[in-house]
Amino acid sequence: MILIKLGGSVITDKKEYKRFRKDVVSRLCREIKDSGKEVIIVHGAGSFGHVIAKQYELQKGRIRNDQTEGIAKVASDTRELNNLIVSELTNAGIPSVAVPTGSCFLMDDGKLLMNDVEILQRYMKIGIAPVMMGDILVDRKKEFGICSGDEIMRCLASVFSPEKIIFVSDVDGLYDRDPKTTKNAKLIMDVNEDVLNKIPDEMTVADVTGGVRSKMRTMLSMCSDGRECILVNGTVDGRLRSLLLGEEVVCTKAKK
Ligand code: IPE
Repeated sequence: MILIKLGGSVITDKKEYKRFRKDVVSRLCREIKDSGKEVIIVHGAGSFGHVIAKQYELQKGRIRNDQTEGIAKVASDTRELNNLIVSELTNAGIPSVAVPTGSCFLMDDGKLLMNDVEILQRYMKIGIAPVMMGDILVDRKKEFGICSGDEIMRCLASVFSPEKIIFVSDVDGLYDRDPKTTKNAKLIMDVNEDVLNKIPDEMTVADVTGGVRSKMRTMLSMCSDGRECILVNGTVDGRLRSLLLGEEVVCTKAKK
């Protein structure tokens, strides 16, 4: 089984509230189908989650009363995105079902706790790809919290031991300098802890999810027993398909 996260930056236009990238998503779903691999899909929230979450400062936990309204809005918008993704997967010939993140996970003081993954296992047994997403969840201590798709990936990787873990994003991978501001920035194809520590701090503020560097840290924590954890650019035609088929592609691989 291969665990895939479709990042919010590739499935939505992060700058525009609720802008779904239908063409990109439908192509990526076809690429997954073409590979013939068994998958679990996790997706980010992109502009269906981050815009309103930021407006109501939901990442800070309970600080004002009107946040309750924000929670409901974010939950509604992310479910809308979730339905769009499931439709595209099904249209591509991948029978899939949305499994609400809150049915398997709960938060406790900001920490993600896995409740039960039997639902996921049972869907997979009957040939259905479960689809989960970064979402707003209830928290035992803080009332609510934002659960990122990356955290879900980390938990699922520990339970399901996937043969490969793939993060699909809108960048080619990790660079030694910020490619947006530095001309000769070099793509790093293989990353380990030492390499990561030498990357300048400017890379930590690349985007709202904490940047490529913090994503790489999560990815490194998921590599065990020689398992590959890969960051690939989903905006380039055919790259995800090639990667799934085991071909060499432009990407960054995290290795312990
Ligand atoms: C964010 O999930 C969830 C909400 C904002 C509700 P992610 O952090 O996984 O989303 P992306 O991939 O950055 O958009």
